[in-house]
Amino acid sequence: MLGQKRVNELNHLEIGSCDVVTLAEQFGTPLYVFDEGEIRSAIREYKEAFSTNYPRFHIAYAGKAFLCAAMCRLVAEEGLWLDVVSGGEYFVARESGFPMDRVIFHGNNKTDSERSLALQSGVGRWVVDSFEELECLLEEGKNYIHGKLPVLFRITPGIDPHTHAYITTGKIDSKFGFPLVESIAEKAIVLAASSHHLDVRGLHCHIGSQIRTIEPFLKAAEVLLDFMAVLRARHGITLDELDLGGGLGVPYLDEEKVSFPSIRSYVTALCEKVREKCLSLSYPLPVIFVEPGRSIVNTAGSTLYRVGFVKEVPGVKKYVAVDGGMTDNPRPMLYGARYQAIVGNRVESKGMPWEKVAIVGKCCESGDILIPEIELPRVWRGDILVVEGTGAYNYSMASNYNLVPRPGVVFVRDGAARLVVRPESLSDLVRRDLVPCGESGKT
Ligand code: LLP
Repeated sequence: MLGQKRVNELNHLEIGSCDVVTLAEQFGTPLYVFDEGEIRSAIREYKEAFSTNYPRFHIAYAGKAFLCAAMCRLVAEEGLWLDVVSGGEYFVARESGFPMDRVIFHGNNKTDSERSLALQSGVGRWVVDSFEELECLLEEGKNYIHGKLPVLFRITPGIDPHTHAYITTGKIDSKFGFPLVESIAEKAIVLAASSHHLDVRGLHCHIGSQIRTIEPFLKAAEVLLDFMAVLRARHGITLDELDLGGGLGVPYLDEEKVSFPSIRSYVTALCEKVREKCLSLSYPLPVIFVEPGRSIVNTAGSTLYRVGFVKEVPGVKKYVAVDGGMTDNPRPMLYGARYQAIVGNRVESKGMPWEKVAIVGKCCESGDILIPEIELPRVWRGDILVVEGTGAYNYSMASNYNLVPRPGVVFVRDGAARLVVRPESLSDLVRRDLVPCGESGKT
């Protein structure tokens, strides 16, 4: 079992002291359930690890992992910054009252309208991703409402973090950032430093996601600090900020629990490396930013499904179909991601035989398989299946494929549940249609 769940006297699973069977009845399924206490304790672990190790730091939650107004509020309350990567994420932050001077604005292709939105409403840091973007900003920066636009430069440090190829971003051959070849980054930073509109604060990198060891992060920090030293030596530019992105991996399965570094050990190692490197370069200690997403929300999130039809192919396999699937969790299909599940209304088998089954979704796609093989107490139609560790990149990557409505989101804490995003209704599915499509199709 991941996180702080427990089993109650009814043999039901509880998340945040809320019975999952009651949650499923009250809010329907599928349902994303987040243990608010667990999100906050991951955030505290980051804060405490930094405050005991390093004088100047900012933690920016990466909204792409999971963002809605309630999450923006929580992040604001905890005093974190927020990393956004599109006009949409930016808008949700602004509408939920998030302090925009704590927003880091990312993106390799910020569109005209996204750039003008951010220039008008303000940002904490703007991460410049390419030369062409810089050229736009040299001109558009004069429109920034709060004076000089504070920018970071995204660098691809040329590091392979050994994670899934689709979530590797720090290699030289990447669509993101400035490569450290042919002085491209150097030229860009020197140009920006001479601008009246831009305030060059520092460097950024994000080498990938679901990274299992600390070593690649430390290498990235070294590469960036070396480059900072080059900028100082050659151009007299001393940068004060070092943003090392997100990427810390988390266990998705019980057996993986021992093989991931803790938040504390990751932060401690980063801080040590930055201190040591700065000392050897005689470089002033920069402000460190990190941008964790998954390691803040993944374990706190679970998805509740109701079991539908169970089909046995004799001698081959038993398929247990649930009322969601690739639409609310595309990760098994996209990355071969593995998940574990619990029968929420019968956690312990109490003498019932266990059996191997495949958990499949309801989409018209053979690959719509959430868990190819798992051993569970015997499952029947109507049971509540809880898939664990779905807090990151599930809600945010959900789709309406097959026109399946997307699930709602519930925050649970100390026995109280609040619906923070309502489930999509069937009428939501025709809300944007412009041909008449009212009740019974007559309006
Ligand atoms: N900062 C930047 C610039 C990023 O691109 C990302 C993630 C993060 C921070 C947060 O990384 P985290 O701490 O969550 O690993 N959809 C994929 C993950 C894509 C990650 C994209 N960037 C998945 O489901 O695994």
